Amino acid sequence: MAIFKPPKAIRGGIPICFPQFSNHGPLEQHGFARNRFWSIDSDPPPFPTNSSNKAFIDLILKPSEEDMKIWPHSFEFRLRVTLGPGGDLMLTSRIRNTNLDGKPFTFTFAYHTYFSVSDISEVRVEGLETLDYLDNLQNKERFTEQGDAITFESEVDKIYLSTPTKIAILDHEKKRTFVIRKDGLPDAVVWNPWDKKAKAMADFGDDEYKHMLCVEAAAVEKPITLKPGEEWRGRQELSAVPSSYCSGQLDPQRVLQGS
Ligand code: BG6
Repeated sequence: MAIFKPPKAIRGGIPICFPQFSNHGPLEQHGFARNRFWSIDSDPPPFPTNSSNKAFIDLILKPSEEDMKIWPHSFEFRLRVTLGPGGDLMLTSRIRNTNLDGKPFTFTFAYHTYFSVSDISEVRVEGLETLDYLDNLQNKERFTEQGDAITFESEVDKIYLSTPTKIAILDHEKKRTFVIRKDGLPDAVVWNPWDKKAKAMADFGDDEYKHMLCVEAAAVEKPITLKPGEEWRGRQELSAVPSSYCSGQLDPQRVLQGS
């Protein structure tokens, strides 16, 4: 039930949270980047790219005068969106401080990826077990995850800290595993609003929480600071691989350890 009309962010896909994840700061929830129109970047500065990946688009976001009023920093945010030969989706963000006043700036960031799943009660997330997390539902208090893979039976809104570069989402019913590979993004937010919050959101169907899960490659706990001229990079790669977890044909650990 996403609303495709500005100024609200479209719910779904991969909203980009910048320059602020969440609402702890002066800006709107998850920052303004996800609510802006980006331009095609026709002449991006070169960066090393895998030559087999020919299908890509370069986008750019620069602050408007209005943006500068709420976040008084000049930046260039370049986003390369690449579709790999096997259907993998790569997102590379490059954020540069272009302040002329010599001032550094600090930001937090997330690729707020919505994954489609067949039934949230049958989904497992692997790669986050035993890690520390901040629980958004308990005043961001810090806990340590216990037990095996993460499963879902109620609302969840957690920021896992210092996570591995690979995380897997196993969709038992669909026999499909999403693999997230990330770089420069130490944290991972896991969010499902469950029934009550789903009902409260105008752009979210009452039962849609059963068929989605957000796992968000992020840099939240330790904000990133850039001096003028400095650039930060954050990369996420998504692939979907067939899995038959129950029959044991594909061991999720091997998915995580694989290439
Ligand atoms: C998650 C946050 O990343 O995004 C949640 O951890 C939040 O707290 C959710 O509710 C959705 O945010 P929004 O602004 O897109 O409704």
